Amino acid sequence: MSTVDLEKYIIDIPDYPEPGVIFKDITPLMASPEGLHEAVDQIADHFKDAGVTKVMGAEARGFLIGAPVAYRLGAGFVPARKPGKLPREVYTQDYALEYGTDELQMHKDAVTADDRVLIVDDLVATGGTAVATAKLALQGGATVVGFSFVLELEFLNPRKVIGEEFDQDVFTLIKVH
Ligand code: PRP
Ligand code: MG
Repeated sequence: MSTVDLEKYIIDIPDYPEPGVIFKDITPLMASPEGLHEAVDQIADHFKDAGVTKVMGAEARGFLIGAPVAYRLGAGFVPARKPGKLPREVYTQDYALEYGTDELQMHKDAVTADDRVLIVDDLVATGGTAVATAKLALQGGATVVGFSFVLELEFLNPRKVIGEEFDQDVFTLIKVH
């Protein structure tokens, strides 16, 4: 068990981006050599025996954590990008936002049926982004082996949303009640 307190690197910003919302700013964690190292190592260590071949992260903050986790696991990294950003043939997955819907896309050749995919993001709130990212992996024929997030907003019940579609391991470093 590590003695590094990851929570001290997260700054709460009240009423951002709108009144009543507390924004969780992870940039101090990313900027800290100790914090970044610890967060990436804890996620990679948890999944070290899961046979992960690809890590997927959603634009933009999922790239920050996902790529170093992939490197640490000896896996590849696959970006799930916002629409129109990827230049070749893509799979598209829509997901619900508070108001309306959005989409994520993945290159069709980014994963294959042989891939075991770990979904990584900085934060899980409703779970919508994570489920959409995982469904892109499924569209590519891959197997989803787990989910991992630095922060889990427990009060929004993201595990329920993820659990309705996937029964894989969900590993989070900091839970917000
Ligand atoms: C944030 C965060 C997660 C997502 C979690 O991304 O980085 O990806 O929200 O919310 P959910 O569980 O309700 O889907 P955001 O869409 O704000 O974009 P960004 O990563 O580009 O900052
Ligand atoms: Mg995001």
